[in-house]
Amino acid sequence: MKAWSWDRYGPPDVLALKDVDEPGIARDEVLVRVRAAAVNPYDWRHMRADPKLVRLSIGLRRPKPGLVLGADLAGVVERVGDEVTAFRPGDEVFGEVRLGSFAEAVAVPQDRLAVKPAGLGFEQAASVSMAAHTALQGLRDEGRLTAGQRVLVNGASGGIGTFAVQLAKALGAEVTGVCSTRNIELVRSLGADDVVDYGREDFTERAGRYDLLMDIVGDRSLAKLRRPLTSRGTLVIVGGIASGRGRLLGPAAQVLRGKLAAPFVRQRIVTVGWKPNSADLRFLAELMEKERIAPVLDRTYPFAEIPEALRYVERGHARGKVAITV
Ligand SMILES: NC(=O)c1ccc[n+]([C@@H]2O[C@H](COP(=O)([O-])OP(=O)(O)OC[C@H]3O[C@@H](n4cnc5c(N)ncnc54)[C@H](OP(=O)(O)O)[C@@H]3O)[C@@H](O)[C@H]2O)c1
Repeated sequence: MKAWSWDRYGPPDVLALKDVDEPGIARDEVLVRVRAAAVNPYDWRHMRADPKLVRLSIGLRRPKPGLVLGADLAGVVERVGDEVTAFRPGDEVFGEVRLGSFAEAVAVPQDRLAVKPAGLGFEQAASVSMAAHTALQGLRDEGRLTAGQRVLVNGASGGIGTFAVQLAKALGAEVTGVCSTRNIELVRSLGADDVVDYGREDFTERAGRYDLLMDIVGDRSLAKLRRPLTSRGTLVIVGGIASGRGRLLGPAAQVLRGKLAAPFVRQRIVTVGWKPNSADLRFLAELMEKERIAPVLDRTYPFAEIPEALRYVERGHARGKVAITV
């Protein structure tokens, strides 16, 4: 089968389309014929080993041999392991692997998949897992969002942000999204009650207004991010679209600062480390079936143009998700 692999860290030019053996499956895994994948900042961070911390998990000097890039996917089940009870060959599924979705087939643990909603295309379904899990777990689990709360999402027009705005609305919040001028209409169309144009207004000046602030951008100090919160509000630290390139820790530095500061402030500071799982995928599928949320697709690239898709996402200005047709 064809798969996108890389044998040194660097820009998208290091990627090569290779002929490799189809993966075998463990007893709890499913072989999925990939119909679509999606791109996340996670992918270029692994491709470049940026932050350098990535090297600890996939290879100190170079990527371990045989690794295939890509996490999010949607496709058709081809074979199942002995212990797999949830899926059968022919099922249309979506979900995520740690690495390996930029390929014609991939082995996926059954607890990282769910059945694809019938009305959803493969490209849309592939765009869900990493971004929507992060948004959901940040708002509902770490953020403990309850209906009626006022929520601000910084980075509302990106992969995670477009899900966060819709999920916060679906969970009953009053939502403010922060984005640039060109994305105001998009963020409003997702249900935001209010929009802050980051080119015209600094949301950190809105002192004491929000019960929960989800920061996906990572370009402000914790002191500034806490300012728009009520005295008992919650800061949810998700990521760093605009932070930490070329550093040892990258966006993890903000996460670390948050963890260190949390015991000393009255507001809650929490961090998100998304955990893909079937239960949350089913919850998201149900919301999509009821048309409460929908993936926002910016662009779709063919499988042969994955390096181009990565180049685009790396610039940090995607509007929603970027999908790959396999
Ligand atoms: N904690 C976790 O579990 C977890 C999981 C997954 C990802 N992450 C991290 O989360 C971050 C975001 O991921 P993503 O998929 O949402 O990224 P993304 O889709 O690449 O984000 C791009 C969006 O960010 C917006 N943006 C850029 N600069 C901004 C600014 N200063 N203020 C407001 N918006 C700005 C862009 O809008 P404009 O073009 O209008 O500027 C664009 O729409 C990444 O750093 C990723 O590594 C964390």
